[in-house]
Formats: sequence, C-alpha cells, structure tokens
Amino acid sequence: MRVMVTGAAGMLGADLSALLRSGHTVVAVDIADFDITDPVASAAAVRDSGAQAVIHCAAFTDVEKAETHGEAALAVNARGSRNIAAGCRKTGARLYLISTDFVFDGLKGSPYVESDRPNPLSQYGRSKLEGEQLARRELGEKLSVVRTAWLYGGSGENFLTKLLRFAARGNTVRVVDDQYGSPTWTVALAECLARMLKAGAASPLYHAACTGRCARFEMAREWFRLLDLDSIELEPVGSDTFPSAVSRPVDSTMAGDALEREGIGGLPPWREALGRFANNGGKELAKQILGG
Ligand SMILES: NC(=O)c1ccc[n+]([C@@H]2O[C@H](COP(=O)([O-])OP(=O)(O)OC[C@H]3O[C@@H](n4cnc5c(N)ncnc54)[C@H](OP(=O)(O)O)[C@@H]3O)[C@@H](O)[C@H]2O)c1
Repeated sequence: MRVMVTGAAGMLGADLSALLRSGHTVVAVDIADFDITDPVASAAAVRDSGAQAVIHCAAFTDVEKAETHGEAALAVNARGSRNIAAGCRKTGARLYLISTDFVFDGLKGSPYVESDRPNPLSQYGRSKLEGEQLARRELGEKLSVVRTAWLYGGSGENFLTKLLRFAARGNTVRVVDDQYGSPTWTVALAECLARMLKAGAASPLYHAACTGRCARFEMAREWFRLLDLDSIELEPVGSDTFPSAVSRPVDSTMAGDALEREGIGGLPPWREALGRFANNGGKELAKQILGG
C-alpha cells in the first residue's frame, strides 16, 4: 500500500515511517516538505503522494507553548488536520489522525474508553479535539481518530530524556507522583498502526496506548531500574512543585476495546514496552545523555 506519514521527522513519525517501509511504499513528509497550515499545499501533497492511507502525526506538541500560543496551536492541530482531511476527501484516502489523552479532563476515576466524552483542560487538548472534529466534518467515515498517550521513543525530547538530563546534572531527580497515565512506546504504537493498515481498520475512533496505569514517578523509577541506574536518587513530589500555566489531566489512563474487538490487537503492558525500549536503543540513548 502507498502510505503517507505526516510529521515523519517527529518522534512517532520517524519510528512509524521506518517500520512501515518493510511492507509499504511510504511517503514520509514533514514541515520541510510542506506546511499543513497551508490548505493548497496540503491538498497538493496528499494528491501527489498517491497514498491510499494517510497517517497524520504532524502536530504542535509543545503543551506549555500551546497554552500561551493558542492560535498557533489551533492553526496546526485544528485547521492543519482539517487541511489534511480535505486533501484525503479529494483523493479518497483513509485518514488515521493521531490524537491524545489530553482531550480528557482526567477526572473520570477509571480508564478512558472510546465512548467517553472529551473535556480538554488545556489549549493543546482543545486544539487536538477541534482537529478531530474538523477532520470528521471533512471526511466522515473515512476518518479514524487514533488517540494515544505519554509517548516516548528513540528520537526527540520526551519525559525519559528529560529525566536523564536532570540525572546528568547529578542532582536528586524530583518527579510528580500525582499524575497518572499510560506510557506508550512509539514503536509499540507504530506496530499497532501497521496492524490497523493491514486489517483495513475503519472505526471512527480507537484508543491505542500501552495497557496499565502508572504515576510519572513510577515510570521514572522503572526507567532507571531498567538502565541499572538505581543509584540515582528519585524524589516523589506533588504537581504543585512545578508551577505551570497548563492544567493537565490528573489521571488520563487510556483503555478501550475497539482494537481487541476488531481482532487487531491492542498494545502491550507499559512495563513490557519500556523494557523493550531500554533494550532497543534506550540504553544507548541513556549513555549518550549521561556521557558514559
Ligand atoms: N508526545 C506525546 O506524549 C503525545 C501523546 C499523545 C498524543 N500525541 C500525538 O502524537 C502525534 C505525534 O507526536 P510526537 O510527539 O511524535 O510529535 P513531534 O515529535 O513533535 O513531531 C511532530 C512533527 O510535526 C511537525 N510539524 C509541526 N508543525 C507542522 C506544520 N505546520 N506542518 C508540517 N509539519 C509540522 C514537527 O516539526 P517541528 O519539530 O519542526 O515543529 C514535527 O516534526 C501528535 O499528533 C501528538 O499530538 C503525542
């Protein structure tokens, strides 16, 4: 199949493009190729790609910056997604739009499933939800929204690389223990997206995150344990230790049954995926950052 991947230079897009290349013709694009905020360029790029499916990973992902640059976040995440969807409408391509746990307010008290009602707390979350809605208006049933959460991977900055940078300074690493979610390895998500393509997944909405639930602190402890860095001092702290303009969901743990119900299969438990990452690039990444 010909598959277009937007945001292909980003954390998910890079791993996804690499993985899909073994079975598909991948048209990998990022901002150097065209800007998704440009409707004409977006439509032309989707058309010229000849893709039967587009996996839209490009996004304004800096949650802190989105809070103060709300219009810029909307331009990319909302109207940019609509532009990609409009391109797909003209060619008939199916669109898989990657979205986020930040569309939820985190107050449910149990894991979020596909039927739960979004209620974003942040500009980032609002812009991503509006992207889902605008793309739906363009494409209807040719759109599958794929919500994921707490991504980490081998390229780009993420929670795990930030932990290592703090550790490299030799100080105690303070990590919040009152925010819960579903840490998800980009490769585990990419493998799931590959299975979705193969199966012709066509439901309107999928939750696709590693299973289980943990606090940021627990994730940090497991990461350092896997790296044999138990000597690094970790201190659990409350979110109020790090004042932020962004309201984050307290517990955005993701679940859902669409992937299992359709025989596509969900993602592995978060500890298993983190272990696989540690042994597949994570340890090298840690050495680079820690200078070992
Ligand atoms: N990271 C997470 O924890 C997380 C959690 C849940 C869902 N998601 C979603 O998963 C997807 C992938 O996230 P990620 O962390 O892999 O993102 P990322 O690393 O920030 O990659 C996004 C890519 O999109 C590009 N881009 C930004 N604006 C663009 C524009 N106007 N036109 C074309 N390309 C543009 C970025 O380029 P620049 O770097 O030059 O801006 C970057 O290469 C996103 O949809 C995100 O919302 C992420």
